Order: sequence, then structure tokens, then C-alpha cells
Amino acid sequence: MTDQTLSFTAASDLVRRRTEHLAELLGHSPLAYVRTFGCQQNEADSERLRGTLVLLGYQITEDPAAADCILVNTCAIREHAEIKALSSIGQYKHLKAAKPHLIIGVCGCMSAEKHRVEELKSRYPYVDFTLPPAGDAMLPSLIFAAMDKKRSFSCLELREAPPASIQPVRGAKSKAWVSIMYGCNNFCSYCIVPYVRGRERSRPYAEILAECESLVLSGVKDITLLGQNVNSYSGGCSFAELITRISEIPGEFILRFMTSHPKDVTPELIEAMRASAKAARHFHLPLQSGSDDILRRMNRRYDSARYLSLVDALRSAMPEISLTTDIIVGFPGETDEDFEKTLSVIRRVRFDSIYSFIFSPRKNTPAAEMPDQIPREIQNARFDRLLALQNEIAAEKNLSAVGKTFRVLCEGGSRTDPSVLAGRTDGNLLVLFGGTAAAGEFTHVKITDAEPYALHGIQIK
Ligand code: 5AD
Ligand code: SF4
Repeated sequence: MTDQTLSFTAASDLVRRRTEHLAELLGHSPLAYVRTFGCQQNEADSERLRGTLVLLGYQITEDPAAADCILVNTCAIREHAEIKALSSIGQYKHLKAAKPHLIIGVCGCMSAEKHRVEELKSRYPYVDFTLPPAGDAMLPSLIFAAMDKKRSFSCLELREAPPASIQPVRGAKSKAWVSIMYGCNNFCSYCIVPYVRGRERSRPYAEILAECESLVLSGVKDITLLGQNVNSYSGGCSFAELITRISEIPGEFILRFMTSHPKDVTPELIEAMRASAKAARHFHLPLQSGSDDILRRMNRRYDSARYLSLVDALRSAMPEISLTTDIIVGFPGETDEDFEKTLSVIRRVRFDSIYSFIFSPRKNTPAAEMPDQIPREIQNARFDRLLALQNEIAAEKNLSAVGKTFRVLCEGGSRTDPSVLAGRTDGNLLVLFGGTAAAGEFTHVKITDAEPYALHGIQIK
């Protein structure tokens, strides 16, 4: 056991005594609410935060007004995400006024930014502590201090993997995120992640295998391996080997992963996917820009030719593979010509879907200081053109799915109409269908109609 785990265990014991006492006063276990902003990695981190809260004697609630402890798991990737998180923290001020023993902690990427930590400390007096990503081991002692009305705002340089003893409290029954590594070493010039999540640390593969085995045994049908750059996994085997080993776990399940960096995709990985009966025929491969000049200034370390050769290799190994990507529009210095190059790669690849973002300067990253920042109107106009092109491509692609039959993992009633079932194909396309499948069940659906963002169909028995 490391000192970290000891202090985690010791502090957990102390908090548990307090929560037991609180339970006697309240007549029920104290409640904890975790609000998540941002990416899947944050969703997975929140599941671990909930696991720690349960270990500390809290019960999880979905109602912040009922909570005795609120954690806001923040995102810092774009300014918009930070503003949303800050405004949600602001909403909890009146809850603390009405319930002075309420503990409020701010976790996640924003709480690893010095200027934000200072701001939270001075302008949000009702916030008790900040806890940066992968700071899990510190959570019990921060809560214990908060119980004694002591506020804690260190911008911890805590870069260890979270204690293995924390059991995530998972949301969905049939789907699970599994973090295989933390942090990033790539320093793309626009990106805050390496500064707030620290350097890459990989979990040992035996630990990951054991977690996946127990998930499959417990009925999970869709596992997504998570990391900022899964292709550089180094926990005792290569990422390709990890895919092969997890695929050998008996049982019917889909294996997904994200995110991949084009510079690190290997022929071995493509072969491991092709040979795997479990790996989803889906690859999320962020392009960011189709201009080699912009890619160089983004510090991406590949060019559009390398990217296109990967697309060709993936499609020749798995012709049915679905491809998705991330694009940043309006990076500093992006000319009309650069932007046309992005559109031209998109026309050539014909992605199944695209996550597009307007460049957002992040404090202390190189791109924020680059000359020729692009005016908002031009960014917006390019963003709209990108969206229109992608809508056209997605509509055409989805239309060509009409008449075909797909394996679909049913997720239950659709959000807008519970009498219609919703599910995902292996390629992660949303399918709305009529039938009798239960949530978490694989079924086959014949596609009868298509929209840009969803397919419609009927279940084939
Ligand atoms: N501005 C806009 N988009 C960004 N991304 C990362 N940093 C920024 C930024 N500063 C996008 C990238 C990445 C995705 C997760 O978010 O496209 O792949
Ligand atoms: Fe950010 Fe680049 Fe790392 Fe992805 S690979 S998290 S974009 S620095």
C-alpha cells in the first residue's frame, strides 16, 4: 500500500464516522449529487467520484436540492464549457445558504487551472474545495476538512492513477466506460488537456482485463476504453494487444475505444480490430484540419496524406467501418484556402459524423498567443459551411442504409417518444425502431427511413 492509499483509507474512516452521525440526525444516509460537464473521460471520472462518495457513506441522488454534498465535475476544453460550469456552481449558492452543512466541491479540469482556482477561492465563498482530475485519493481528506468548515484550494500537482480500490458507480446497466490511461503527452498547440490532466499514465493491462471480465459477467454489452490517446497505451502490452486480449473474454459484447491520435495508429491495431469479433466497426479519428500548414502549427505531427492513408487502410481492412472525426474551425491564421482543404478532405473521406468546434483560445496554450486570430463572423460562417456539407453527406449516407439490416444494441424507449425504441448500431449510428427488444438486448433492425442524424426501422425477429 502506498502512503496515498493509506491516507485515502484513514481519511475515509474519519469521514464515515461523520456521515454515520449525520445519518442518525437526518434519519437517512446523507445524499451526494455529482454534476458532469464535458467528455466521456469526465463521465468516467464522475462514476469514480460517486464510487468514493458511496464508500464515504453517502447515497447518490439526482436532485441537487436534496444533497448534503455536491461535486461539480468541470470541463476546460473550450471557454463555453467553463462558463456553463461556473454558472452551474453559481446556482448552488442559495442551497448552501439554506443548508449550511452542505459541502460543495469543484472537480475536473477547471480545478487544475491556477487562475480558475483563485477565482473560485475569492469569488465563490460557498465552494469548499477544488480537486483536479485524478486527484481521487484526496477526496476523503478534502471532504473531512470541509466538514470542519476548512476550505482547501491547492492546485495539486497530483498525477497518480486513482486508487484501484475505488469501484465506480455506473449509470447505464448495459454500457460502461473503462479508463485505460490518464493524461496526455501530445501538447497540441490549442489544447489545455496536457496542462490540466498531466502526463500519460497507463493502467496495468491485468487490471483492465479483470475490470472488463467482471463487467461482461455483470451483463454489460458495450464497453468503451477511454484515454486521451489510447494508441500510445503502455500498461504492459501494446494497445493492439489489449484489444486482442479483451476480445478473448467470452460473451456477446461490443468493444469501443476513444480517442485515437492519427500519428500513433499502427497497422497492428488495424489488424487487431479486423481480427476481433468484438471490436466495433467504428473509428473516431480526429482530423482537426485538412491543411498541412495548420496541422503543423497545431503540432499534430501528421499531414493530410498520412491521415488519408490511414482512412484507406481502415476501409480496406474493414469495408463496413464507420468513421467519425473532430474538426476545429477558425484556428489562428486559417485562410480561406486552408479551410477549403479541410472541406476537401471531408468530401473525400465522407465521415459518418463530425464533431466540429470553433477555436477557443485557452489561457497559457501556444495557440492562444498566435498572431492572426480569426474574427468571430468568419469562424461562424466557416462553421456553418462545414455543418451544411456534413449534413448533406450524412443524409446521403443514411439514405443508402435504407433497406439494409443492422445489429442494434437497444437502449430502451427513445427520449422524445418512449413507445419508440432507440439503439445504436456497431458503428454508433442512432436507430429509432418499432419492436419489443429490452434495454441492453442485441437485436436486428431493418432500416425503413433515414434522417441526417438518425435511422428509422423495424425489429426483425
Ligand atoms: N478550441 C476548440 N476546440 C478544441 N478542442 C480541443 N481544444 C480546443 C480548443 N481550444 C477540440 C478538438 C478535440 C476535441 C475533444 O475538442 O477537436 O479533438
Ligand atoms: Fe489535447 Fe492533442 Fe492530447 Fe487530444 S492529443 S488531449 S487534442 S493535446
